[in-house]
Amino acid sequence: MPAGLGAAWALLAAAFLAALLLHRAQARRPGGGGGGGIASGLFQDLIRYGKTKNGGGQRPAWLRRCQVPKRWFTHFYIVSVLWNGFLLIKLFQAKFLGAALALWMQQLHSAFGRDLQSQNTDSEHFSALLVLLLLWLHSFRRLAECLCTSVFSNGVIHVVQYCFGLGYYIVLGTTVLWQVPINVRHGKESSVQICWYHVIGIVVYIWASLHQHRCLVILANLRKSKSGKVVSLSHSIPFGDWFERVSCPHYFAELLIYVSMAITFGLDNVTWWLVVMYVLFNQALAAVLCHEFYQTKFTSYPKHRKAFIPFVF
Ligand SMILES: NC(=O)c1ccc[n+]([C@@H]2O[C@H](COP(=O)([O-])OP(=O)(O)OC[C@H]3O[C@@H](n4cnc5c(N)ncnc54)[C@H](OP(=O)(O)O)[C@@H]3O)[C@@H](O)[C@H]2O)c1
Repeated sequence: MPAGLGAAWALLAAAFLAALLLHRAQARRPGGGGGGGIASGLFQDLIRYGKTKNGGGQRPAWLRRCQVPKRWFTHFYIVSVLWNGFLLIKLFQAKFLGAALALWMQQLHSAFGRDLQSQNTDSEHFSALLVLLLLWLHSFRRLAECLCTSVFSNGVIHVVQYCFGLGYYIVLGTTVLWQVPINVRHGKESSVQICWYHVIGIVVYIWASLHQHRCLVILANLRKSKSGKVVSLSHSIPFGDWFERVSCPHYFAELLIYVSMAITFGLDNVTWWLVVMYVLFNQALAAVLCHEFYQTKFTSYPKHRKAFIPFVF
């Protein structure tokens, strides 16, 4: 396993788990908030975004100066489509055209702990190529949804969250590339080995992506008239599809999409399971905040709905 990258993802997962536990502890205190201190205010501002942003109370002016529009989420997917498209082409050339990757890529590769001489199989290389393709398709669909489907309000995100989001998809695609030695194809015949885990991974990916798209359409339709005209920017209770079971089915689908990539890798890629852990805790935190928002705002909110994982959490 590329040790440096694996450690970075483990740290990130641990940070979001710690934030989730801290938030739960603060919420259980008398009064429900984290107190009015600067540290607590900053913590709440860094974990919340969009409709949950004001859940920690009225935000002071100095915090409001550090915000950007939430609709800038679109930029994350533009970066991802460009960067991961570039990596996809490079990996495709390495796999099928026998091209060596650029020297700077090889140097970075070894800097993060990947052994360039390690044993590589065609199936390992093909798995990484497939996962990169799935990641690119995911980013492309999300970009299209941001531009053509979702109706954004005037919600905001912290500038730190914005910078994190910009870097996130660069590191993510790079993590996929790091899973195979990059100089192995040079001068070799290429072959494609389709394995059972590629097929199952792709099926789970398509199933989760379809549900995520449907849920995002449901959210968008809450703000549109029957003719498709945007008539409101407020937040209301979504119904239908997986919303009948959880408050944030699109976050649950996101987790499934990353699990599907772990399956496509052959289920034994430890680095990618650490990425899945990061997505689990990141989306669990966002789902808990969203669930609390709905429960506070709507007295009629369905009692049986969980926050994130059907029947479980
Ligand atoms: N992999 C990761 O690390 C990661 C991190 C974050 C998000 N994501 C993914 O990105 C996607 C979008 O995430 P998100 O946090 O932006 O989702 P979100 O807060 O639910 O927003 C999605 C869209 O629906 C609108 N919306 C949300 N709740 C609504 C309601 N009750 N009534 C009407 N409209 C509503 C939002 O508008 P406004 O918010 O503008 O009001 C926005 O346009 C998700 O699929 C998520 O899984 C992934």
